[in-house]
Amino acid sequence: MAVNTAKTRQVIVAMTGASGAAYGLRLIQSLHVAGVELHLIFSDAARIVLLQECDLSLPEDPAAAQLVLIERLALSEADRVHTYGLKDWFSPAASGSSGICQMVVAPCSMGTLARIAQGMSENLIERAADVMLKEKGQLILMPRETPLSAIHLQHMLSLATLGVEIIPAMPAFYHRPQSIAELQAFMVERVLDHLHIAQENIQRWGISNDR
Ligand SMILES: Cc1cc2nc3c(=O)[nH]c(=O)nc-3n(C[C@H](O)[C@H](O)[C@H](O)COP(=O)(O)O)c2cc1C
Repeated sequence: MAVNTAKTRQVIVAMTGASGAAYGLRLIQSLHVAGVELHLIFSDAARIVLLQECDLSLPEDPAAAQLVLIERLALSEADRVHTYGLKDWFSPAASGSSGICQMVVAPCSMGTLARIAQGMSENLIERAADVMLKEKGQLILMPRETPLSAIHLQHMLSLATLGVEIIPAMPAFYHRPQSIAELQAFMVERVLDHLHIAQENIQRWGISNDR
């Protein structure tokens, strides 16, 4: 069982090459604001999607990527942000002995989802997810694809059976969002809830903010 003894909460956030890169960026920003120490990993395809969808050119070099992210997302405490390369087997994310016990993949491509479901550990994202599974940590995936094939659904079912939380990039409309930012916020708020991170001033179904 993974036990995180660090004083600051540690979360691994991986972004992969599914559409919805803005969800990942917003999640990173929200977790930073919440005081979380972040361990960030980006797939090669995530960098392509970040450029296509968010006009963000993220360098391959992790140190350079970290500087770009810190500036773009106005992350005020740089010492709580760590970015790793896909083959950085010496990073904390690569081993259960690091004690980090929460990980989110947002957005999660069907390719990465399939490889996690199959126990592949070809890159650091897959290895970190594999570590979460073997250590009984918390693994949250935010897949995005449409339509979903039987293969996609089978992989999601086998992961959900293992306790992986599948939070698909499917924002609701019952709160009448007025902007894309509100749709993004809805998804990120759901993930923060599942990570048990306190949030103030968010809309909750059936609960008045006046209380
Ligand atoms: C702009 C763009 C959008 C994409 N959207 C999706 C998507 O929504 N879901 C998905 O599974 N793959 C999507 N892909 C394809 C993945 O990026 C591709 O399968 C890639 O190999 C995934 O690699 P990764 O899992 O290492 O990130 C997209 C690719 C591009 C360039």
